[in-house]
Amino acid sequence: MSNLLKVKPLASILGEASETGEHTLKRSLGSGSLIALGIGAIIGTGIFVLTGTVAAQYAGPGVVYSFIAAAIGCVFAGLCYAEFSAMIPVAGSAYTYGYATLGELFAWVIGWDLVLEYAFGAATVCSGWSGYVLSLGQDLGLRLPPELAGTPGSIFVLYQGHWEFLGRVAAKLQQAGVDPNTLPQRHGIFNLVAFVGIMLVTAILVLGAKESANFNSFIVGVKLLVLVVFLAVGGNMLIHHPELMKANWHPFLPPNRGSFGDFGWSGVLRGAGVIFFAYIGFDAVSTAAQEAKDPKKDMPRGILGSLVICTVLYILVAMVLTALINYKYLNLPDALAVGMDATGVKWGAMLVKIGALGGLSSTMVVMLMGQSRVFFSMSRDGLLPASFSAIHPKFRTPWISSLTVGLVVAVFASLIPLAKLGEMCSIGTLLAFIIVCAGVWVLRRRSPEIPRPFRAPWMPLTPIMGILVSLGLMMGLPWETWVRLFVWLAVGLLIYFGYGRRHSRVQQGLPPEAPH
Ligand code: ALA
Repeated sequence: MSNLLKVKPLASILGEASETGEHTLKRSLGSGSLIALGIGAIIGTGIFVLTGTVAAQYAGPGVVYSFIAAAIGCVFAGLCYAEFSAMIPVAGSAYTYGYATLGELFAWVIGWDLVLEYAFGAATVCSGWSGYVLSLGQDLGLRLPPELAGTPGSIFVLYQGHWEFLGRVAAKLQQAGVDPNTLPQRHGIFNLVAFVGIMLVTAILVLGAKESANFNSFIVGVKLLVLVVFLAVGGNMLIHHPELMKANWHPFLPPNRGSFGDFGWSGVLRGAGVIFFAYIGFDAVSTAAQEAKDPKKDMPRGILGSLVICTVLYILVAMVLTALINYKYLNLPDALAVGMDATGVKWGAMLVKIGALGGLSSTMVVMLMGQSRVFFSMSRDGLLPASFSAIHPKFRTPWISSLTVGLVVAVFASLIPLAKLGEMCSIGTLLAFIIVCAGVWVLRRRSPEIPRPFRAPWMPLTPIMGILVSLGLMMGLPWETWVRLFVWLAVGLLIYFGYGRRHSRVQQGLPPEAPH
């Protein structure tokens, strides 16, 4: 058993950091840049798509409470991430923290689990991106046959001479008194746009085109602008038509309809588990610890600052959206654009769509890059085959890792509905948070002497709350998601015992494989 819990020595981890050249990174990021980095990774499909689906399926306008609950969990976990990242500032994130504290088996579980966060996360974001691409294409008169425009099971109806995604026209049909069952229907088979989207991002990653800091700031600016314009235009509409709020916010929290998660407070909890996805990404700030000017101050400011700004924006956007359109009609791939449409400001909807396209692409890049980095670290430790840490001679990128990940993620994104992908990503990330919080706590007790440039406050309350709130959010997710999580972890353990354990370099007392 002790073998399975073999810990990777901190000295070796920190050595790796310098050997990969990370020690040459300049300490140039202040809290402002770190906050921008966080916002860049955080704002994505969550706010642009899931706000609508959660309101429609679980909580109504009470999605606002879901946003608040999920934010609370993130703050506690964020403080734990800040402590770890300032102490162990290397690639590999939670996987590396797990290896240093809880041992190899946990490290494997967390690494395998991070696939859910990054790979399923990228698939979710891409699925949301495809919704906005299709919607923009439609505005320009470009349409795909329904079979190639949706995942299996999605329904399209022939309405006014065009094949429309049912969710998108449901409100119009109801207003017109048309029963959708009386219209000709076709079903989606393969979401081609999502497939192509992931393959494009993969190509960018393989070719090594690095997002420049300026480009990143530009994208962050675009995302913020889009949300602020949405609030301004939508808010203005509500001021002039307060009757909308009366009609659509009553009741603010629709009563439970009999089963757990079907509106009412259990719906808010389920919604929080799903909407938690919208906050994922603040952990990306932790990977920049070594570039922070003053990690002690800048890490918590970067993590918490980006979280607070996004929380406030999210709550306001959710309030305006659910006031503009009745929650029953928000189960849409492009909810914010449709919300903007409802204000009658035509350029507004176009701005939201274009902003979403640009904004979501950068989130996809971050997530896919995160995934191939985690595989890269696991491969160097011998837990995955060496080809995952192979570097392309010309492009100097982990190309095999990126291509494998890209292909698998593209297939997920084209075949699995967005909501299911998002739930897998949320449950996986929450589990990672729990392990990170536990790791911080364990390491404080086991090795109090290690210098910690940033110390999470209120020990041990912070990690305990991080664990409890994350567990609570996981509880809110549907049981099928739990089953999928266990199946996923079981497959991971088979791989570990079949391959990783026998090839582990830490077990053999060897240093990590040199990049090749
Ligand atoms: N938080 C990111 C999003 O909403 C992952 O897309």
